[in-house]
Amino acid sequence: MNITKICCIGAGYVGGPTMAIIAQKCPQIEVTVVDLNEERIAAWNDEDVDNIPIYEPGLSEIVKEVRGRNLFFSTNVEKAIDETQIIFISVNTPTKTYGKGKGMAADLKFIELCARQIAKIAKDDKIVVEKSTLPVRTAEAIKSILDNTGNGVQFQILSNPEFLAEGTAVQDLLNPDRILIGGDTTEEGQKAIQALVDVYANWVPTDKILTTNVWSSELSKLTANAFLAQRISSVNAMSELCEKTGADVNEVAKAIGMDSRIGAKFLKASVGFGGSCFQKDILNLVYIAKSYGLHEVADYWEQVIIMNDYQKRRFSNKIVQTLYNTVADKKIAFLGWAFKKDTNDTRESAAIYVADDLINEQAQIAVYDPKVSAKKVLADLDYLETRTTEKNNACVTSFVDPYEACANAHAVAVLTEWDEFVQYNWQKIYHSMQKPAFVFDGRNILDRAKMEEIGFVYQAIGS
Ligand code: NAD
Ligand code: UDX
Repeated sequence: MNITKICCIGAGYVGGPTMAIIAQKCPQIEVTVVDLNEERIAAWNDEDVDNIPIYEPGLSEIVKEVRGRNLFFSTNVEKAIDETQIIFISVNTPTKTYGKGKGMAADLKFIELCARQIAKIAKDDKIVVEKSTLPVRTAEAIKSILDNTGNGVQFQILSNPEFLAEGTAVQDLLNPDRILIGGDTTEEGQKAIQALVDVYANWVPTDKILTTNVWSSELSKLTANAFLAQRISSVNAMSELCEKTGADVNEVAKAIGMDSRIGAKFLKASVGFGGSCFQKDILNLVYIAKSYGLHEVADYWEQVIIMNDYQKRRFSNKIVQTLYNTVADKKIAFLGWAFKKDTNDTRESAAIYVADDLINEQAQIAVYDPKVSAKKVLADLDYLETRTTEKNNACVTSFVDPYEACANAHAVAVLTEWDEFVQYNWQKIYHSMQKPAFVFDGRNILDRAKMEEIGFVYQAIGS
């Protein structure tokens, strides 16, 4: 099958970057990314590529190269579905906030809407690709909708989960560890798989393109995220034991990571993992296990989330305790609000929960993040619905200058590991702060000896 036109529904953190790379690496394919969100599409089409809605190192350069050549952003979902051979679905699949499975199951209403729209519009055979992270066996539901509401055309459903991490999306897409494609074992299914393999083979070595049945592919994505998050919760659990015993979690992580069976990556103790994926996907996994009656399996994975919530709370408690058991009316400066460095994404960022705890203790929070706007910080707090917008507004202030954020503060808390934080003039920050000047390093990025030499009371995670 010669693929010349593909489209992607959902112009978010996955759809946008993934399609930009496909367009760059496959100049013979016209790629259209569609979204219902007009503002988002307008931003992707902004003349100034620095204004595209997602910050990822290297992304704006690629968009500049391919946009208008073979990459297009549009709100015309129907036209895109009608004209293309492969349709990627890359819409959001958040945790349900209502009804059965509330707080655990994935909300599939956006997926179903896409399936119904594809069924209505498609006048010829299509390959529909699940790019979103979905519960195992979702392809069955999509197929049922397509076959029962369509115009009699043939649909092949593939699962092709995305493994990129934010902040390194471009590198991850250019150089993936693997591409996973799941499809039907029938002849038509195998043909569809091959068509998608051929797209990726434009830049990915074929030995890194793995093909499986649909269910294995769907479940592998949830499994990968569960394993990654489990490593962080494991090392974070050890961080508290390190603090009690005089061991240093950085040294422990290095020592165990050199065991090739364990490996060195994803062993960085922190204030807790954030991001739109880990919590949502593990809760979904727990829900699926429970729905099959597998309660021990569910409890095992739920512990990863319980540990992560505990680690965030432990960090805010430590700040309060160390500041003589009261932070009321004290200025606490937050360096970083994003859930990790090199992204403007704040979904489920630990900073939001730590700030919420400290505001409950009547602290004044001063935020500096190189990529997150004041509006976003406020919106994130409002989303928790702990208190009114007015109250949040009165308790949190964002700064464009990190030194101003830290001036007169009783404590600085490092919430994101942005490289620039290490380079700051910490002597200058020390002089501008209340004394004793406390630093709570939620990312273990600062040098304890240097900080203590300046005069800070320095507390890290796990040492
Ligand atoms: P996102 O919220 O950034 O983007 C999703 C977009 O889909 C939004 O812009 C929304 O307006 C649009 N949309 C929703 N319903 C639509 C419809 N019916 N028609 C057209 N547009 C519609 O989400 P994201 O972070 O890109 O994640 C998308 C999926 O990819 C999720 O399932 C997520 O779990 C998965 N995923 C995310 C990451 C990540 O790092 N963010 C990595 C791997 C996988
Ligand atoms: C994750 C997966 O890594 C990716 O494969 C998947 O496609 C989407 O979910 P992402 O959430 O974008 O990616 O970033 P990731 O690098 O995994 O970091 C997630 C969170 O864990 C961040 O808050 C990060 O700071 C934290 N983290 C990561 C740690 O605390 N310690 C570590 O060792 C690694």
